[in-house]
Amino acid sequence: MRIPEHIVEQIIRQTDIVEVIGEAVQLRKRGQNYIGLCPFHNEKTPSFNVLPERGIFKCFGCGKGGNAAIFLREHQKITYPEALKELAKRAGIVLPDEGDRESREEYNRQDNAFAVLRAAGNFYYLQLLAESGSEAMRYLEKRGFTEEIIKLFGVGYSPDSFNATGAELKSQGYAEENLLDAGLSIKREEDGRVWDRFRGRLMFPIQNPTGRVIGFGARRMNDDKTQPKYINSPQSLVYDKSHVLYGLFQAKDALRRLEYAILVEGYADLISTYQAGFQNVVASSGTALTREQLRLLSRYCKRLHIVYDADNAGVNAALRGLDLAVEEGFDVAIVTLPEGDDPDSLIQRDGAEAFQRCLDKAQSLVNYKIEVFRKQGKLGTPAGQADAVRDVVETIAKVPDTFKRDFMIRDVALRFSLSEHDLYRELNQMLRRQQFQRIDQAGRERRVETNGIITGRESSLAVLVPATQALVTQAVSEESAKQQAPEGRYADLLPEEQELLRIALTQAGAVGYIMQRLHISVESFITETAQQLFQMIADATEHHHEPLSWLMQQEALTERNGSLLAALAVREETPSERWRDYNVEMQEDLKTMLRDCMIKLHLRRYDEELRSLQEQLKHAQDHEEPMEHSLEILKQIKSADEERRRLQEVMMGAVV
Ligand code: UTP
Ligand code: MN
Repeated sequence: MRIPEHIVEQIIRQTDIVEVIGEAVQLRKRGQNYIGLCPFHNEKTPSFNVLPERGIFKCFGCGKGGNAAIFLREHQKITYPEALKELAKRAGIVLPDEGDRESREEYNRQDNAFAVLRAAGNFYYLQLLAESGSEAMRYLEKRGFTEEIIKLFGVGYSPDSFNATGAELKSQGYAEENLLDAGLSIKREEDGRVWDRFRGRLMFPIQNPTGRVIGFGARRMNDDKTQPKYINSPQSLVYDKSHVLYGLFQAKDALRRLEYAILVEGYADLISTYQAGFQNVVASSGTALTREQLRLLSRYCKRLHIVYDADNAGVNAALRGLDLAVEEGFDVAIVTLPEGDDPDSLIQRDGAEAFQRCLDKAQSLVNYKIEVFRKQGKLGTPAGQADAVRDVVETIAKVPDTFKRDFMIRDVALRFSLSEHDLYRELNQMLRRQQFQRIDQAGRERRVETNGIITGRESSLAVLVPATQALVTQAVSEESAKQQAPEGRYADLLPEEQELLRIALTQAGAVGYIMQRLHISVESFITETAQQLFQMIADATEHHHEPLSWLMQQEALTERNGSLLAALAVREETPSERWRDYNVEMQEDLKTMLRDCMIKLHLRRYDEELRSLQEQLKHAQDHEEPMEHSLEILKQIKSADEERRRLQEVMMGAVV
């Protein structure tokens, strides 16, 4: 059976080509891409390239190239549909059941809905350019939208008629059922009358992340308050507004490049913002942010600047909604606009610079909340202050990253002049409560019936690990080729150094915690290798990047350090994403682990010092040096020994 085109797209989009090819070919990272020896012809120097960003491979030796499915077809000598099925299985995408007529029909209907929506988008666009769309075009010009941006977003115009759109699409071969499925037509049950949903409106096509039109937002062009300003596509076979971010398709590249998203409310806001040069913008289209929207966005970046109207009446309610973003691991900042403005009106009146100034003044969610409480006069009374603290700590408890939480708690402690201890007590209570809620919710989510397509939540580690796995495999096999190189897999790294480095490398925020809270610096490490690696990780963290992938791309990275880093990053003990969801205690364990590593490093230093002092003592006695010399050394031994014992007790949990 033919796999519908949109499913093929989804399969390819969700496939990590490096992972797939990496199972058959030893790949080595070079810049953004990977190279290896071509499996399709004999070669000694690699000319086989994998380009993960574009999802393709290409051999410059024999010329073979294509996407992941083509690789499987060629490599495993199977058919293209078989290869797609294989990839679908990996990606957790359920394909229509061949024997099941109902599921096959459902897929065909979806396919047709996509096709008719695309045809409608084209039609509306041409209508805008036609004579009959001249008023709409003038309106867009008045709002400052350029021809280029109109084309990029496919803005169009629906004719002011009850059947013009329907008639046109039917003449192109689409059935009434297709139009109804796609939400383009409305049917009245009583008499079966059917008419066009969108009439005489500006049309904003809503696209999915691969660029397919899945619905429309339609704005009236007059001030007729009896009509809704916007009419949106209804929920349909292909459109679920809670799963969609308007503008994501156009913003994708910029989101990855700039590593943060600007979230605005409306269609016009999005287009104006994009046109003003802020291409990392997405819109929620008037709804409150949903978890699905956030998960979609989190594939591209993990920071979110939310643009707010200053006069937003429901500030408090909206803020609570933002906790959801925090829960999904986003760094959330609030951008406040001058009263009465939305991004569109501000940019059209005062220009891009004015908007940039607002962006520059973005406040973290916690600071913003405190600010709101202050303005409401709540910070004046002890009771009000307690409320504020609880509210803010509740937000902090939702941060999945234990280190980030730590910094936030410290910040709040300073701001409110509160003891960190009290805040932690409050925090831990909330964490435990949330943990139960999450387990409960996860159970419920698993029970929800999915109708076909499962889009699994991608964990950052899951994405990271396959890429490095290839490197490790390579590093390991290179070593075995060298007949057990004298250095082990972790070279001369001490166990506690390995542990510290591993956590620094794989846990966001760990480096800051290690340096600022545990006062560990480069010099605290004992081996030179560890000192080098820690310095590198600390540098990488400063660049705001995923340290591992950033480091792997550095020209200066030696092969030895590269394979060490990769080996550390994929060690089995690396906490998985599930940790975050289910086990608060284990996160606390992470801090304990770090603290223990630090102590072990100190203990080693004392051992070293004691050994050297013992030698000095022996030397002094053997050479019959003055007694006071020996006594001085003995005093030093005693104090070093005491220090050492104290540290050991701390580690055993006797003292905290
Ligand atoms: P706004 O009323 O703020 O409109 O609604 P806007 O985006 O500034 O549009 P312009 O500038 O007047 O053209 C914000 C968003 O809420 C949704 C739309 O997604 C809109 O962009 N909305 C608003 C509706 O869905 N229906 C409505 O009737 C109004
Ligand atoms: Mn507006």
